[in-house]
Amino acid sequence: MWNKIKSNLISARVYFLEILIFDLSIAVLIFLLYGSHELSLSLLILLIFLSIILLNFLGEKRKNELNEIKQIINNIRQNYYSYPDEIKLSNNLSNLQEDIKLMFEKTKSDIEDLTRLQKVRSEFLANVSHELRTPIFAIQGYIETLLNGAVNDESVNKYFLEKANQHTLNLNNLLNDLIDISMIESGEMRMSFRYFKIDEYLKNLVNEFIPNVKEKNLDLIYNPVNSNLQLFGDKERLRQVMVNLIQNAVKYTEKGKIEIKVEEEQKFARIIVKDSGIGIPQEDLSRIFERFYRVDKARSRAIGGTGLGLAIVKHIIEAHGSKVEVESQIDVGSQFSFRLKK
Ligand SMILES: Nc1ncnc2c1ncn2[C@@H]1O[C@H](COP(=O)(O)OP(=O)(O)O)[C@@H](O)[C@H]1O
Ligand SMILES: [Mg+2]
Repeated sequence: MWNKIKSNLISARVYFLEILIFDLSIAVLIFLLYGSHELSLSLLILLIFLSIILLNFLGEKRKNELNEIKQIINNIRQNYYSYPDEIKLSNNLSNLQEDIKLMFEKTKSDIEDLTRLQKVRSEFLANVSHELRTPIFAIQGYIETLLNGAVNDESVNKYFLEKANQHTLNLNNLLNDLIDISMIESGEMRMSFRYFKIDEYLKNLVNEFIPNVKEKNLDLIYNPVNSNLQLFGDKERLRQVMVNLIQNAVKYTEKGKIEIKVEEEQKFARIIVKDSGIGIPQEDLSRIFERFYRVDKARSRAIGGTGLGLAIVKHIIEAHGSKVEVESQIDVGSQFSFRLKK
C-alpha cells in the first residue's frame, strides 16, 4: 500500500511545485483576508493533505498512461503488430494513438523500402557478375584454344584473335555503362543545364554515324529544323542519350532507314529517333528500360550490347524532367522520343 502510494507520488512529482505554490497562495490569501495565523496554518495543513491525495491519483493515472505507451513501444519493437489498426490506446490517449500509428506505418514502409533495395542490389550484383563472366570466359576460351595449337593454324588463328578482341571491346563497353549507371544511381552525376542550338548539335552528332550506316547499307536521314531553335538541357548527357538511341536503331535495323527529327510544340520540342528495324514485341516494351533487360540476349551480346543503354537513357531524360516514349511494331520499326523545354 505504502509502496504503491510512494511510487504514485514519485510519478506525480512533476506537479509538486505547482500544487505547493497553489496551496501556499491560498494560505497567504486567507491570512491577508482574515489576519489569522491559526486559520491559515490549519488550512495549509488541510490543503497539503488533500494535495497528497490528489497527487496520488494523478500519479497513478500518469503511471498507467506511461506504462500503456511503454507497452505499445515494446510491442512495436518486437514486431508484434502487422497492421497499424492493431495499435490501440485508451480513450484519453487517442491523439497519441494516431501519431503512433503514423510512426509505425512510416517505419514499416522504410523497412520495406530497405528490404526491396537490398534485393535489387543483390540482383544487380548477380547480373553484373554474370555479364562480366560471359566475355571473360569467351576470351579465356579463345586464348586457350590458341595456346593449345591453333596459334599455328593460319586458317583460324586470326579469327580467334579477332573474336577475343571483340569480347574485350564488349567488356570495356560494359564497364563504361556500369560506371555511368552507378554514378547516376548514387546521385553523383552532375547535370549542367543550359540552352543550346539543337539543329547544329544534331547535325554534327548524326554525321558521326555515317560510317556505321554505310556499313549496313542503311539510309540515315536528318530533317533539319529552324537553326535558331534553342532547347534546354545538358548537352553532354543528351549526347549519351542520342548515341545510345541511334546506336540501337542501327544495331536493330537490317534494311531501310533511320530518321532523326525534331517536332516543335508550343513550349517544348520533341526529339525523335525512328528506325525501320526488327521492332520490339508489345509485351517487352515496358521492360526494355530495365537494367540488363534485352529482348534477345544472345543477339544483343553478339553485337556488343550491354543491356544498360536504355536504362541510362531513361535516367538522363528523367533528370531533365521528361520521359522517354516508345512505339514499336514487329518488322516495321521502332520510334523513341522525348521532349525538351524550349
Ligand atoms: N531500336 C530498337 N529496335 C529494336 N529493339 C530495340 C531497339 N532499341 C532497343 N531495343 C531492345 O531493347 C533492349 C535494351 O536496349 P539497351 O538497353 O540499349 O541494351 P542493348 O545493349 O542490348 O542495346 C535491346 O536488347 C533490344 O532488345
Ligand atoms: Mg543499346
